[in-house]
Parts: sequence; C-alpha cells; structure tokens
Amino acid sequence: MLGSPILLKSLLLSAAAFCASTTAGPTTASTTKKVCTNYKIPVTISSTNLVFAHPFRDNYDVADFVTIADSRDEGARADVINGTTTLSGSYTIGATFCTPATGQSDAHKSTVLLATHGLLFDRTYWDPALNKTRYSFVDWSINQGYSVFYYDRLGVGESSKVSGYVAQLNDQVEILTALTKLVKAGNYVGNLGQPKAVVLVGHSFGSNLAVQTAANDLNIADGLILTGYSFDQRYQNPGGTAAAVGFRIAKTLSPQKWGDLDTGYLVPVDQYPIATTYFKEPDYEKSAIEYTNANKQPVGIIEVLTSTIPNTFPNGYTGVVMILTGQYDFIFCTSLCTDEILTNSAAPIFKDAKAFTAKAYPGASHGLNLAANAAGSFKLITDFLSANGL
Ligand SMILES: *[C@@H]1O[C@H](CO)[C@@H](O)[C@H](O)[C@H]1NC(C)=O
Ligand SMILES: *[C@@H]1O[C@H](CO)[C@@H](O)[C@H](O)[C@H]1NC(C)=O
Repeated sequence: MLGSPILLKSLLLSAAAFCASTTAGPTTASTTKKVCTNYKIPVTISSTNLVFAHPFRDNYDVADFVTIADSRDEGARADVINGTTTLSGSYTIGATFCTPATGQSDAHKSTVLLATHGLLFDRTYWDPALNKTRYSFVDWSINQGYSVFYYDRLGVGESSKVSGYVAQLNDQVEILTALTKLVKAGNYVGNLGQPKAVVLVGHSFGSNLAVQTAANDLNIADGLILTGYSFDQRYQNPGGTAAAVGFRIAKTLSPQKWGDLDTGYLVPVDQYPIATTYFKEPDYEKSAIEYTNANKQPVGIIEVLTSTIPNTFPNGYTGVVMILTGQYDFIFCTSLCTDEILTNSAAPIFKDAKAFTAKAYPGASHGLNLAANAAGSFKLITDFLSANGL
C-alpha cells in the first residue's frame, strides 16, 4: 500500500526451485458438508529480494517512516530500499484443502480455487470464525460444488516465521508458484486427484501475488479472481493508507503474541484504523471489525511496500479474469471505485483473456469478505466461473 514510488519494477526473479512431500494433517468433516484436510507443505524457493535500508529501532522510527513515505522528496523515499539480495530458503506452509462431502453438490469439485489472503489476515480470511453463511468464502464455494485450497502466507499463521524484512512480493510469489504447481499435479488435494482446473483467487496483496505469478508463467492457472485490487495506480492511496493505518511494531503491542518477531513486522494499533482502511459505514457489523482486530496478523514492511503493483504484468494471459473490489475501497481506489476505473486500467492487460469482467462491489470497502454483504460478492465469483465453464 505505501510505497509505490520506491518500487523497483525491474527486478529479475530467479527461477524457483521447490521440493515437497505429502504430509497430511488431521482430516476433519465440518457441519457444512465439506471434507477438509490440513497440510504442512515443505517448499524450497529462491528469490531476488529488496533490502530495507534502515530497520526500525522503535515506534518513533515507524512514525518517521510514515513521514518519509508521504514525502514529496523522491530521494528520501528511494532511500528506504538499499538494493537487492538473493534469498534461498526452505519453509513450511500451513494450508487447508476442502472439497464437497458426499451428499453435497459437487458439480465443480475438480476446479480448485487456490486462495491467497492479503495483509492483516491469515488463511482464515477465507473462512472466519464468524457467521459462516455471511462471511465464509470457503463454505459458499463448497455449497456451489467447488473445491478450495487456502494457505497461510510465509510469516503468518501455521507457516514458517521469517524476518519482517524478508517476507515480500518476490518470495511470496515463488511460494504461490510452487503451491500452484503442486496442486495442479494433484498434491495436497485430499483424494481429488489431478484437478481439471486451478483458479488463483486473491485478496489485496494476495491478488498482487496472483497477478505476478501469472505474469511469470502465463499458463500457470485457468483463471484469476482478483479481489480488493485495482490496476489503476492513479487512484491507489499509499500515502493516505500509511497515515491512516496506525502501524506499530507488532511485538511492542503484544509481546505474548509477537515477541519472537523482529521489528519489521507491524500491525494497526487498534480497531479504529482498521475500520478506516478496511471497512465503510454502514456496510459492516461492528463484531466483524472487532474480530479482525482480535485476529489481526503482522505485516512485513516490505510486503506493504510491494503490495499494490507487480514487477511485470500478465499481458497476453488467456484464462478467465475477474476483478472485484469494494465500491469504497480506501487502499486501492481512495474510497471511490467504479466499474469503469477497474475495467479501463485492466482491459489492455487482459485483452486476450477468455473472459474478463471488473466490478465495483456496492457498499464494501477493502475488507470484502468481512463486509456485511460479503456473500453477494462470493456469488458473483462462482457465477462468473461457472458461466465460463470452470
Ligand atoms: C547499503 O548496502 C551497502 C552494501 O551492503 C552498504 O555498504 C551500505 O552501508 C548500505 N547503506 C545503507 C544506508 O544501509
Ligand atoms: C448469519 O448470516 C445470514 C446471512 O446474512 C443471516 O440471514 C443470519 O441471520 C445470520 N445469523 C446470525 C446469528 O446473525
């Protein structure tokens, strides 16, 4: 969100190397006619990473970072990043695969929706411990007969912990690329076997990861569902978001939860900056904002800097593409998205897509799955996919 001016767009990604074994966790059957399996997936990746020049000593440094991020002084902004370095590492990724249970419609179960959450969340963004009818993308999709694979990004949830100065676009893309290839080959999908189709579904930074993953390999997925996202950089709001989001060093807010993380991991100080940046009155239940605050996940500062704009674009992508972003999205549209804004910025990139649509979703801001009318947005997604043979 913050740092589009300092993005180094010409980074070369090194080739991903990965290996994996099948380690299945407990299999659980929930009350909603789904069979879910939890996995811990080993991945080995290599990526070209940005280096954060001045690690935060304390929250005064974070405060000054906002001053710099909003500065008219391009030199000051550029000084935030000091070159690149090669990261090579082996990590464990926590993931869940759910598929319709016996007795449930399974018309689309061989289409796997591979979902990547955005900043502030972990994989439970797709299946929060709230009213499932209203907020669970997983349950909605299962009820339409789809299978869903969703995972914790590196650094959060059950995935490996890393430095907050390490987690960022390029390494997260290599992980998404590795996971997508594994799922396409029929790994970590219960008894499904090789899926007929894999669709990358993202929210916010997770959408940027899907975009970059497709840009690196145009054939990697049959569809892209980009929620909480826009390609129109004119209306993205990095400065406003930096000012409004109220970041504090995570471990200073809760040594119990985050004491083992370094100062590169930040969280909004309380629920009110989350309300400003992710929600829009009256389109929420206060309980959803309180839940988001209580379950907020730390965000790496370079993840923030690389969250809105990919290094390269998936020009020539031929799968199906949907962009679905809240009408009042604060971060990507400065509180005013329209179908035209979302469409015009993306149509040239996706002129070869089998199907393309872009929609500003009425009432919602950035936190689409926790908006009061989240289920309506889930319906648009599965309607679009089934109308296009997925
Ligand atoms: C940037 O990186 C170089 C090479 O590692 C180092 O010598 C220099 O001190 C760094 N500059 C800053 C401002 O961190
Ligand atoms: C859960 O959400 C559904 C759909 O919005 C709604 O009809 C129902 O009343 C909600 N249940 C509770 C307990 O709030």
